[in-house]
Amino acid sequence: MEYVLRTHHLSKHYRAFKAVDDVNISIQQGEIYGFLGQNGAGKTTTIRMIMGLIRPTEGYVELFGEKITGGSTVFDRIGSIIEFPGFYPNLTVVENLEIHRRLVGFPNRGSIEQALHTTGIWEARNRLAKRLSLGMKQRLGIARALLHQPELLILDEPTNGLDPIGIKEIRQLIIDLAKQNNLTILISSHILSEIEQLATKIGILHRGCLLEEVLLEELRRKNRNYIEAAVGEDHKTLMLLEQHMHITDYHRPEPGVIRIYERLAESAAINRLLVQHGVDVKEISVVKATLEDYFINLTGGGPLA
Ligand SMILES: Nc1ncnc2c1ncn2[C@@H]1O[C@H](COP(=O)(O)OP(=O)(O)O)[C@@H](O)[C@H]1O
Ligand SMILES: [Mg+2]
Repeated sequence: MEYVLRTHHLSKHYRAFKAVDDVNISIQQGEIYGFLGQNGAGKTTTIRMIMGLIRPTEGYVELFGEKITGGSTVFDRIGSIIEFPGFYPNLTVVENLEIHRRLVGFPNRGSIEQALHTTGIWEARNRLAKRLSLGMKQRLGIARALLHQPELLILDEPTNGLDPIGIKEIRQLIIDLAKQNNLTILISSHILSEIEQLATKIGILHRGCLLEEVLLEELRRKNRNYIEAAVGEDHKTLMLLEQHMHITDYHRPEPGVIRIYERLAESAAINRLLVQHGVDVKEISVVKATLEDYFINLTGGGPLA
C-alpha cells in the first residue's frame, strides 16, 4: 500500500486558536481525496502546511514516504493551486505558462503544449490572461500546476466562484486527469455535492479536526435508503417479513421501529401483509438517506453548502 501523502498529528495553532488540530490524513496512489469542510474549517491552513508554506505547530507531513523538511526536493513531485491563482494579466496564456516553466526550471518546452491540451485551453492559448473567464483561469491554473508533470495535484477549492456549468467542466477535467495521467489528487471544497461526484475518498474537517476519513464507496454502503415502519408488535412483524417476504436485511433502531433495507419498492405489499395479520401499522414510508443528512449529523447542525 503506497501512501502519497500522510499527515501525522498535524496542528497549527494561532495563539489559543486551533486552526488545525491533530489531523491525520492519508492518501494513497491514484485516489481523488475530497477534503471537505465549511469555510474556516482549516482546509487552506492544512494545505499550506502540506506544501511547506507554513510551519506546523505540532506534527508533520509525509510525502511519498518522506518526512518533509525545509529543503525537501519532494515538492517537485507536487503541483498545486491554492486559492485564486495569480497571472500576468497582460500576457497571453502561453506566455504565462512559459514564464512559469522557466521559473520552476523545467526544461521540457513540450510540456506547455501538452498542458494546454489536457486542460482544454489550447484554443485560448493566445488570449490575454485578463480576457479569460473565471473557468478558463482555473484551467490555466491547473495547466500551470501540471507543467512539471507532478504525481500529486493539490487543488484548493478550484470551483469557488464558478457557475454551475463551469463547476461541471472543472469536475470532469479533474476526473479525466486522474484517469489519464495517473495522478493522485487532493481537492478541497465546502460543497458536498461537488466532492461526492468525483472523490474516491472523503476527509471531513470541522473546526480544525478531521471528523472522519472514509472511502466514498463505504459511505454509500452505510447510507442506504430504507423502508421505515412504526408498528405495534416488533417480533411478529419481523417474523412475518422473514417468513412471507424473505426479508432478512433489517434493523430495529428502537422498540416499535423497523428499518428494512431491501425490497424498497414494496412498502405497500409490506403494509398489506402486516395489516392482514393483525399488526398495527402506525406509519410506513421510504426514507432516502442522503450524504448531506449524514454530514449535517456529523458536524452537528450547520450544512456544508
Ligand atoms: N495567519 C492566521 N492567523 C490567525 N488565524 C488564522 C490565520 N490563518 C488562518 N486563520 C484562521 O484559521 C481558520 C481556518 O482558516 P482556513 O484554513 O483558511 O479555512 P478554510 O480554508 O477551511 O476556509 C479560520 O478561522 C482563519 O480565520
Ligand atoms: Mg480555504
